[in-house]
Amino acid sequence: MSKNAVLVVGDKKVELPILEGTEGEVAVDISRLRQQTGLITYDPSLGNTGICKSEITFIDGEKGILRYRGIPIEDFTDKPNFVEVAWLLIFGRLPNKSELAEFSALLTDNELLHEGLRHQYQHIPVDAPPMAILSATLSNLACFHQQLLARQDPESLAGAAARLISKVRTIAAFSYRRSQGLPFIYPDPGMRYCANYLHMMFSIPHRQYLVSPEVEDALNLVFILHADHEQNCSTTTVRAVGSAGANLFASCAAGVSALWGPLHGGANVEVVQMLERIHGGGMSAADCVQAAQDKNHPFRLFGFGHRVYKNYDPRAKILKEACDRVLTTLEYSDPLLDIARRLEELALKDPYFIERKLYPNVDFYSGVLLRAMRIPTNMFTVCFAIGRLPGWIAQWKELHEDPQRRILRPRQIYTGRAETRYVRMADRQG
Ligand code: SDX
Repeated sequence: MSKNAVLVVGDKKVELPILEGTEGEVAVDISRLRQQTGLITYDPSLGNTGICKSEITFIDGEKGILRYRGIPIEDFTDKPNFVEVAWLLIFGRLPNKSELAEFSALLTDNELLHEGLRHQYQHIPVDAPPMAILSATLSNLACFHQQLLARQDPESLAGAAARLISKVRTIAAFSYRRSQGLPFIYPDPGMRYCANYLHMMFSIPHRQYLVSPEVEDALNLVFILHADHEQNCSTTTVRAVGSAGANLFASCAAGVSALWGPLHGGANVEVVQMLERIHGGGMSAADCVQAAQDKNHPFRLFGFGHRVYKNYDPRAKILKEACDRVLTTLEYSDPLLDIARRLEELALKDPYFIERKLYPNVDFYSGVLLRAMRIPTNMFTVCFAIGRLPGWIAQWKELHEDPQRRILRPRQIYTGRAETRYVRMADRQG
């Protein structure tokens, strides 16, 4: 591959450097294009544009490959440990025993919410969307941990990261308890990360709550599979907010808002609601597959399709297998799983989906697994956010460690009115 691309536009000709990534991805570096030619490029959804160099996650969308710090996602499925993967993503390598123990202890030390934050729940409607509570409360952490706002030294970052990763469970569980009119269950410092979250969600005072190893492993796996995914919409949002110098709490709160969208993390809720509609007789799986193709019909086959994967999302494959394994172990059958399988079978044989390379993505089976853990549908995207938090933190940290970092500020092509003058009210028509 030559070192430069040559761009010729009219009488302008410029050589642009070619960049090559570890796995052979190639990019044309246009970072000085406007300065050299007065031209900009146009790529409204950024599908053809790299906004950074990153060492965190690698995706090969054509081959269905996903790696965290070079490690294939499949390597984390045996005895999954979400806290270990969080450390890997944030600090760049697998932790040794004492590092993992130290990080786990830091999470335990930071699992409680400030009582001032807990009191805010009293004034929140019981039917408030949990993602609204999550975004607002992550941002509010800045009110209670001001010492972590200004500095970006490694110790402050580790402190902010631990508070976010640990407290996100407490915030999520409290929003669920509020919605059910149940007493808040405080975190138990003797419990591991995922078991503690389920304890805060489902424990009943003075009754012992036990988490089965299968469910604890399954939740670790769900969080790991959601932990990072390079420059997706919510991660790009976190980077954009962080590029302005905003603190980590504000940046992750913005990420939650982007993730909430039904085209992004909110799809896991849409999938289960779609499956429930089919189960309730509202429409058949075949109707869904047809409706998804009708451009005049707003319906999309949620949990299908992906901007990057043009092959089976490796996370969906793992989640589908986990559904079979966990539901069997729990002796729990869910008709929605059979419907999901039927839907996948029909879609993967349909020319519309085949031509567009539309496959199940991470959201297609995740909800069935979360249901098996008794997590309510409106908490699914919150679980996605709990999983994604270490990825957002790792990407934010990488951005701040980049000596060439600049505030994100894209350009545009103006298509509005040419210059005109202000007209006084008395002189306006109509
Ligand atoms: C996540 O980016 C990430 O990495 C995200 C994520 C992560 O981990 O962060 O992987 C998590 O967000 C997964 C995606 C969850 N969203 C959904 O499941 C919603 C349903 N999927 C679609 O809305 C869509 O596939 C997107 C949003 C995921 C991707 O949208 P693109 O890349 O903009 O694709 P597109 O809309 O341009 O689609 C190309 C064609 C279009 O048809 P034509 O115009 O060519 O005729 O495929 C069609 C689309 O209409 N299409 C679908 C479809 N997805 C794409 N048609 C029906 N049902 C679908 N689900």
